[in-house]
Amino acid sequence: MIYPIVKYGHEVLEKQTKPVVDFDGNLEKLVADMFETMYAANGVGLAAPQVGISLHLCVIDTTTGEDPKTKLVLANPVIVSMEGEVVQEEGCLSLPDFRVKTARPERVTVRAQDAHGKEFTMSGEGLLARAFCHETDHLNGKLFIQHIGRLKRESIKRKVRKMMKAGEW
Ligand code: NI
Repeated sequence: MIYPIVKYGHEVLEKQTKPVVDFDGNLEKLVADMFETMYAANGVGLAAPQVGISLHLCVIDTTTGEDPKTKLVLANPVIVSMEGEVVQEEGCLSLPDFRVKTARPERVTVRAQDAHGKEFTMSGEGLLARAFCHETDHLNGKLFIQHIGRLKRESIKRKVRKMMKAGEW
């Protein structure tokens, strides 16, 4: 099932999420639906709050579905280390059409549980490191525009408000 993606302005995106405790069939279904939703939107990552579910869960696939081996499910992810810095354009499915140069660590190690509850630790660089940061931010109620300059952020907020008024958001 493809979920509608929740856009910036909805309170679920700015709330701390609840931990995943039940690694059951419902979670499996949710994970499958999140992948389907992410691929339909051509995204490389999707967090549960973006489908309206306030749960500490995200999916990532930096190949956008080209290589099934790169599919990642992160339940209860925590970033345990980061190093370096890269500035690159970043976007978010909840802020469609806004892409802004954003500084992120170059290399990130994350600890999480998979869809069956098994704990793992994984390191990533570049786009994967960026996705780890972007998606765990979502789970802590943060959006990427909190990492950009204030003027740029205010300009995006203004444009969104305008679109909301016009019924285009
Ligand atoms: Ni996002």
